[in-house]
Amino acid sequence: MTARFFYPRVLFEPETRFRIGPPGDFVPGVDERFKQSHRIWVVRDQNKLFAIHAKCTHLGCTPNWLEAENKFKCPCHGSGFDNQGRNYEGPAPRPMDRVHLELDAEGQVVVDTSRLRPAEAKDAFIAL
Ligand code: FES
Repeated sequence: MTARFFYPRVLFEPETRFRIGPPGDFVPGVDERFKQSHRIWVVRDQNKLFAIHAKCTHLGCTPNWLEAENKFKCPCHGSGFDNQGRNYEGPAPRPMDRVHLELDAEGQVVVDTSRLRPAEAKDAFIAL
């Protein structure tokens, strides 16, 4: 009992606002570097960079990126999302959320995972 006093139950959460590097560090496609640590994918397409919150909109499981099939697939109940995070199969009722992105004064992309955004929001992507 005394020993437990010295080891309090503390939950360490990853920081929600962090830099991921300059836009030029990302090649076209889905980048999984930040999935494990911050639960996001960074996606670069022809004219923008955005980050998808890796949480299925059905019941919250973490989908997998299937490069060969060019889609995200949820292992829990089979929802499928295209490479933009839009739902198109299975029980997921809507697209996966995006997260807020901005460029700082040094040209670094700053992500804020506490600010979930719809895909069309102006602060949910960086134009390239
Ligand atoms: S939690 Fe993803 S399909 Fe159910």
